[in-house]
Amino acid sequence: MSKKIVYALLGVMAIAGCTQSNNPEITTTQTKSTVRTQNTQMMTSVLTETTTQTESTAIKSSIVTTSSTEHEQSLPIQKRQHDEYITSSQTETSQEPKQQSNESTPPAENKVGMADLSLGYSVIVNKKHALPADYAPGEDEQARVHLVKLITDMQNLGYDISNSYSGYRSYYVQENLYNNYVYRDGKQAADTYSARPGHSEHQTGLAYDLKTSNGELLGDGNMSSHTEAVNWLATHAHLYGFIIRYQAGKEYVTGYSAEPWHLRYVGSVEHATQIYQSGLSLEEYYGVPGGDYAQ
Ligand code: DAL
Ligand code: ZN
Repeated sequence: MSKKIVYALLGVMAIAGCTQSNNPEITTTQTKSTVRTQNTQMMTSVLTETTTQTESTAIKSSIVTTSSTEHEQSLPIQKRQHDEYITSSQTETSQEPKQQSNESTPPAENKVGMADLSLGYSVIVNKKHALPADYAPGEDEQARVHLVKLITDMQNLGYDISNSYSGYRSYYVQENLYNNYVYRDGKQAADTYSARPGHSEHQTGLAYDLKTSNGELLGDGNMSSHTEAVNWLATHAHLYGFIIRYQAGKEYVTGYSAEPWHLRYVGSVEHATQIYQSGLSLEEYYGVPGGDYAQ
């Protein structure tokens, strides 16, 4: 009889243990730690050079927090006009990149709801098309190669562009950022410049925010100091496979105020050039719904 009770207790403990090891947060953290080591070795020199004091602090903070679950991260908000500033290539390129297809065919009529991930580099993520919380592909390797080339070329041309950028963000990192902005500025204001969790392009691993050497987003704040770099980027990003995703005058369809620093990789120079030459936003180019959240 007492043996039966002991066996029953052992059974309950075993089930509890399994539940914990299947916790997605814990699994994610462990995967990230493992892949981070490989990723660090793969980093190109341009992305491992010194960063500013501010960036160093952010990176240190990010490295420390990855040992806990992302839910528990407390991301500092630095004083800037817009957007999110915390992650950098060195600390957020942490998972095995998912292969993206080179497909550039415009997607079929896209209904409001979830983003169509089968479209690969043509995927649209906006306020009407969301990503699942567990979609965590990490930084796209092909996109990163092109970004490094772009940053290097801009630096060689004399533009003040930092090696550190804000790239891939998990659902939970975005959730933390967004909540911080809501706390700081209120929901209505935050929605004009920061995506709600699941709605950020940064979760695709295809988006990057360029920064200047003092850690500011390129073209944010005092625009005049970086006008030439902003103009160069706007007219050359497509030659590297990127588009400026959030353009002035397109707020009603992209759903966000203009971000001259936010690049979106679309899979090829040809594809980016077509979109750039069309003068359209990604939503307009593909004819899919954009604008504000559905509810
Ligand atoms: N700032 C862009 C919209 C984002 O949060 O993804
Ligand atoms: Zn961005």
